[in-house]
Amino acid sequence: KRVVLAYSGGLDTSVILKWLQETYRCEVVTFTADLGQGEELEPARKKAEMLGINPKHIFIEDLRETFVKDYVFPMFRANAVYEGLYLLGTSIARPLIAKRQIEIAREVGADAVCHGATGKGNDQVRFELGYYALNPDIKVIAPWREWDLTSRTKLIEFAEKHQIPIAKDKRGEAPFSVDANLLHISAEGKVLEDPWEAPEEYVFSRSVSPEDAPDEPTIITVDFERGDPVAVDGEALSPAALLTRLNKLAGDNGIGRLDLVEGRFVGMKSRGVYETPGGTILLQAHRAIESITLDRGAMHLKDELMPRYAELIYNGFWFSPERRMLQALIDESQAKVNGTVRLKLYKGNVIVQGRKSPDSLYSMEHVTFEDDQVYDQRDAEGFIKLNALRLRLLNRQQG
Ligand code: ARG
Ligand code: SIN
Repeated sequence: KRVVLAYSGGLDTSVILKWLQETYRCEVVTFTADLGQGEELEPARKKAEMLGINPKHIFIEDLRETFVKDYVFPMFRANAVYEGLYLLGTSIARPLIAKRQIEIAREVGADAVCHGATGKGNDQVRFELGYYALNPDIKVIAPWREWDLTSRTKLIEFAEKHQIPIAKDKRGEAPFSVDANLLHISAEGKVLEDPWEAPEEYVFSRSVSPEDAPDEPTIITVDFERGDPVAVDGEALSPAALLTRLNKLAGDNGIGRLDLVEGRFVGMKSRGVYETPGGTILLQAHRAIESITLDRGAMHLKDELMPRYAELIYNGFWFSPERRMLQALIDESQAKVNGTVRLKLYKGNVIVQGRKSPDSLYSMEHVTFEDDQVYDQRDAEGFIKLNALRLRLLNRQQG
């Protein structure tokens, strides 16, 4: 009857829109979100209207603040990275889109939702796990798994037949697939499919190459409160404004590029080229402020759990009990993660230069190489001896 489509305004989702009307004879509701992808959204409204969507059923929303505050920042509290390197820029945006689609479906009385991800990737899983977690009875339509528009030629033919405008540069095959939001931009597929071939410079849009970055370093400070960044260079900023600022500073210094082969949830490996400029600063800065404010036991436990947490986000289990349980643990650990980090940005590098905190656990008095009044070095002898006991007994046994 009625379906809520995640609509970008681009050619592919416009074709999906028409295909839905034709195949399912249903009323299409479009949802277009600004997550900081850096595109105008109003053209999507015009296009949806032109394709016959009821203006009351065109939803266009600026979700940048929510995205950063309720998804990106909680994830960075965990220092989450997938397979050692990926900062999860696409993965973390999907649950928010899914959530809004389900809410809109409820508002307009739709019984189905639709997305434009292919049947080979992670995104279909993330969208749909989100949908089902929030509405177990929702009907899901994934055109890429159903239709026969399997080549660019067929897609263009369909668009022409239905008077869908095609931008000149969209006639040919795009050189790779892109996904963008305030945290990152990704490029995958096509010319990037051979993992031995380096990406050409035109693939990158948010950072200069380190070679072209300024010869002078940029020094910045980032302030944290309860594990979240709140100010850059002493200026308090909203979550989205702060990430935007860090993106600029990092991008100008060639920071945040990643070329990665990763294991998709569906089982195949894929090669992605990512830019996460601000996020790359944030990860370093957050670890630096944790280094003086987090207890060792707390830090090591959260570091052990981090790969699990990152994998849950990668695989699309944001709305799962186990992700929420881990989140509660991570959030609890951040109560005293307050203070300031000073960093040097230089030709692709983020170099921590200093950290300070009103809640610091770092005790100069204890660690000093000079004389101190607080630590009795003789205590260490028994500490080491008891720790050595089992090693000594083992040695004798094996002796
Ligand atoms: N491989 C990355 C991930 O799974 C990026 C996916 C990009 N998605 C896209 N529709 N182009 O998170
Ligand atoms: C897609 O298949 O739609 C993009 C790649 C991915 O989701 O992993």
